[in-house]
Amino acid sequence: MASTALFFSILTSLLFTSSMAITSSDQNPTSYIRSSCSRTLYPGLCCASLCPFAARVGSDPVLLARFAMNVTISRLKPLSVKISSLRRRASLGPSSGGVVTSAMKDCGGLINDATDLVKKSEKELTGLEGMVGSEVTWRIANAQTWLSAAITDEGTCTDEFGNGAGEEVEQVGKKVKRAEQLTSNALALVNCLVNS
Ligand SMILES: *[C@@H]1O[C@H](CO)[C@@H](O)[C@H](O)[C@H]1NC(C)=O
Repeated sequence: MASTALFFSILTSLLFTSSMAITSSDQNPTSYIRSSCSRTLYPGLCCASLCPFAARVGSDPVLLARFAMNVTISRLKPLSVKISSLRRRASLGPSSGGVVTSAMKDCGGLINDATDLVKKSEKELTGLEGMVGSEVTWRIANAQTWLSAAITDEGTCTDEFGNGAGEEVEQVGKKVKRAEQLTSNALALVNCLVNS
């Protein structure tokens, strides 16, 4: 009799504990993204940019990485437009309010290149769930290579934006830096696919 009571008490507490666990993850749909983001270099930026997609990402690591890349692309695209327009104005000379820096000459191309690399990486991981063996390894390795190359492009661009070339140019430099951080986060999330 006593052992039956003990059995039920253990059973009840187990049920209670597991239902607590389910409830707490339900209450916080971003907890999966937060914990994945904790493995990136910029976890705050990671959640700010990806937690809004929690409902669509669920706890799918491939989808999370792909969303991270699309967020990066959405930041890179307007930058390349912005840099071209700064360059155009700069080529008209200082009187038009433009400041010529060597940065702007290279950066347009570098940012376009980075955008293509991140796009290619997002495509490379599309449908990964349905693949097996070396195909998976190969695709992840490609995405890692391309994202690293994108970070190098962005870093080169950031460095060239260095010294005070006016408020507007500095703002662009900051945005390039931010895009570089987003790309770094996306790469970290891809790296998690190998380690998990
Ligand atoms: C990322 O963007 C591409 C192009 O717009 C789209 O085809 C793809 O479905 C997007 N990926 C995710 C995870 O939303």
